[in-house]
Amino acid sequence: MSGAREAGVGQGAGQVSPREAEAGKRGSGAALRQNPRRFGAWRRGLFWCIERLAVGMGGRAFYRNRFLSRARLVQRREVIRVPALCPSLHGLRIAQLSDLHAGPFLGAGDLADVVNEVNRGRPDLVVITGDLIAHDWREALTVLDDLARIEAPHGVLGVFGNHDYRGRNEGRMAQAFAARGIRFLRNESVRIEGEEGDLVIVGLEDLEEARSLDLAGARKELRSTDLEIVLCHNPQGAALLKRDGCLAVLAGHTHGHQIDLPWFRTLGPPHPGLRIEYDSTALIVSRGLGVVGLPLRFGAPAEVVWIELRPEEVPVAR
Ligand SMILES: [Fe+2]
Repeated sequence: MSGAREAGVGQGAGQVSPREAEAGKRGSGAALRQNPRRFGAWRRGLFWCIERLAVGMGGRAFYRNRFLSRARLVQRREVIRVPALCPSLHGLRIAQLSDLHAGPFLGAGDLADVVNEVNRGRPDLVVITGDLIAHDWREALTVLDDLARIEAPHGVLGVFGNHDYRGRNEGRMAQAFAARGIRFLRNESVRIEGEEGDLVIVGLEDLEEARSLDLAGARKELRSTDLEIVLCHNPQGAALLKRDGCLAVLAGHTHGHQIDLPWFRTLGPPHPGLRIEYDSTALIVSRGLGVVGLPLRFGAPAEVVWIELRPEEVPVAR
């Protein structure tokens, strides 16, 4: 059921209740919009100098060995308990990759161990929750061979993050990835059919940078019996995306602060935590795989998040 359809229930023509107005705003996506964070020219210049210096000092090789090797990569597991889960969806496993930031510190071959570990874990579905690039859409092409090696019966789906709109070439990026079997959901959904109920993966454009943000459009194929998981790069929208049947919002964007120390935290977007329950909808935030600015992480390792659906545990009668 779409947010827009919910808004019409029980209302006469021409009457708009505050609840209806709020639901309408939710449906259009307007309430989800976030202000982009913009840095001034001097700070951008400083970041550029630091990045160039780090590249010159071998930052990319350092980052790959220190954070993306099989021994260093973190694989976090999140279980979502679902009442009356259709048996064919029991144990369904989704591997979430996020914030790759291909560019100065991540390029061709650097995700080899990550992809090997994902394939070893035999996911049913793999999702990419945005920020494929650091600066330019062509950077995404450098990791395409690695990502195209991912094996999952329900394929690889993605959404864009705020970085991916730089130069407004996200359409070209989506095309290049689609040609290799990776589909970006741009205010749209994909249905995974179960025997007694379906799971629908809804993908939203980025809350800060997208030209069009259409939640009602993204949810329009949903039926009242469907289970739903939303891919949304920016975690700030989760409170507005929650609803019955929506099991989870999978997000990234924050890098878990990347360098989780007092002053450094102020440089990145706010990080709400790794998992927050909004009633029956879990917000799961990935710390991501790549970096921006510096090839460093502290207290926020690069990670793959594994999300598994399991039936709600029934208390044993004594
Ligand atoms: Fe990011």
